[in-house]
Amino acid sequence: MSLPARQGNLNLEVQALSQDNWQDLEQKLFLRTVNRTPLTLVRGQGARVWDDEDKEYLDFVGGWAVNSLGHCPPVVVEALEKQARTLIQASNQFYTIPQIKLAQLLIENSCLDRVFFGNSGAEANEGAVKLARRYGKLRLNGAYEVITTYSSFHGRTLAMTAATGQSKFQEPYIPLPDGFINVEYNDAEAIKQATNAQTCAVILEAIQGEGGVNMPDDDYLKRVQSWCRERGILFILDEIQTGIGRTGSLFAYEQYNVEPDIMTLAKGLGSGVPIGALLAKEHCSVFSPGEHGSTFGGNPLVCAAAYAALKYIIDNDIPGKVKEIGKYFMTRLEGLKQQFDFVTDVRGRGLLIALEFDSEIADKATLACLNKGLLVNKVKPTALRFIPPLIITEKEVDEAAGILHSALSSIKG
Ligand SMILES: Cc1ncc(COP(=O)(O)O)c(C=O)c1O
Repeated sequence: MSLPARQGNLNLEVQALSQDNWQDLEQKLFLRTVNRTPLTLVRGQGARVWDDEDKEYLDFVGGWAVNSLGHCPPVVVEALEKQARTLIQASNQFYTIPQIKLAQLLIENSCLDRVFFGNSGAEANEGAVKLARRYGKLRLNGAYEVITTYSSFHGRTLAMTAATGQSKFQEPYIPLPDGFINVEYNDAEAIKQATNAQTCAVILEAIQGEGGVNMPDDDYLKRVQSWCRERGILFILDEIQTGIGRTGSLFAYEQYNVEPDIMTLAKGLGSGVPIGALLAKEHCSVFSPGEHGSTFGGNPLVCAAAYAALKYIIDNDIPGKVKEIGKYFMTRLEGLKQQFDFVTDVRGRGLLIALEFDSEIADKATLACLNKGLLVNKVKPTALRFIPPLIITEKEVDEAAGILHSALSSIKG
C-alpha cells in the first residue's frame, strides 16, 4: 500500500534524523546568507552548550549577546511555561498585562518615558527612524535625514542597511533608501559638518559592536548630545548590543553621562526570546494611532519572558557583577597580550570585549577554540569578540582564558 504524501515527507525527516546530516541538509535547504561554524547545537544550560554528539562547549558567543542570563535560565523558562498556558498572542488591538508590566519596568529604570515593542533590533531601529522622521515633519519643517557612522551596525532591513555605515552590507543592494548620511565614528566634528536643514536625528551605538568593538572617546557621546540639543535634532542611541547590563550598567548611556531622546533595545532584553523595543522621551513621542505597528510586537509570551529576565537582572544587580567580571576577564586577556606578540589590542567594556591580532587569523583562532571546547565570535578577520552570558563566573573566565592560551599557542607557527 502506498503511503499518503505527508507520511512520505515524515519518513524523509526521520531518515534525516538518523543520518545525523543536519549540516548537509542545511546546505540544501537554506538561502546562502551565512557561513556557519561547523557545529550543531542541541541544548544549553548556563554558559554551556552541547552539540549533537553530546560534546560540551563553554559559550562566549551567547547567541550574539542575547543570552544575558545564560541558556535556559530558570526564571525565563518558568515565565514562558506559565504564560504559554495562559495567553500566547492577542494582537495590539487589546491591552495585555505582560506587555504593560515590561513597559513599566523599562520606563522606571531608564531616562525614557514611552515604549513601543517590536520583534528585533532592526525593527526597533526602523521604528526609531520613523519616529525621528515624524518628528522632523511635525517640528523641523520636514527634515528627514539621519546621520549615522561608518563601521556601525543597525540591522538588515533596507533602511537599516543604508543606516549601517559598512559598504560590504550596502553595495549588494544599491540603490538604498534615501536620507542616511554616514560619517566617521568618534568624530563629533564630522557630525556637525554633516548637519544641515534636512537633518532630523543622529543615530549612534554607544560602543560599536559588530563593527569590531570600537570604543569612543569618553566625551564623544556628550559632545554629540550637546550638538543635537543645540540644533534641536534628536539624539538616538542604539543600545541593542550595549544595553541590558552588557557594558556594566543597565544602559551604556549611564556611563557616558548622556540621555538619549530615543533609545533602541533588543538582544539581551529577552534573554533569548525575540523582542525589540524603541523608547522615547515625552517631547518626541509624536506617533499618532495607526502610524506605526506590529502584529507580534509586545506579544504576551515574549513580554512575560523579558519581564522575568529584566526583573532578575535589576533585582540581582547583574550590571554591577558584569562590571567586576568584565574587569577580571580584561586582565586575563591583557595577560595573553603580554604572552603573544601577535595580539595587538584588548578593548571593550563590561562583557563586550575584543582581542585584536596583527593579521587575519581570527578564523583560525575561532576554529582552534572550537576544537578545544570554547565558542567565540570572529567579529573581523583580525579580531575575536567575546559576548558571553552576563552570569559567567570567574572560574568560567579562567577556563576560557586557558583554552584561548592553548588555542593561540597552537596557531602561533
Ligand atoms: C547595535 C545593533 N543594532 C542593531 C542590530 C540588529 O539587530 P537584529 O539582528 O535583532 O535585527 C544589531 C545586531 O547585531 C546590533 O548589534
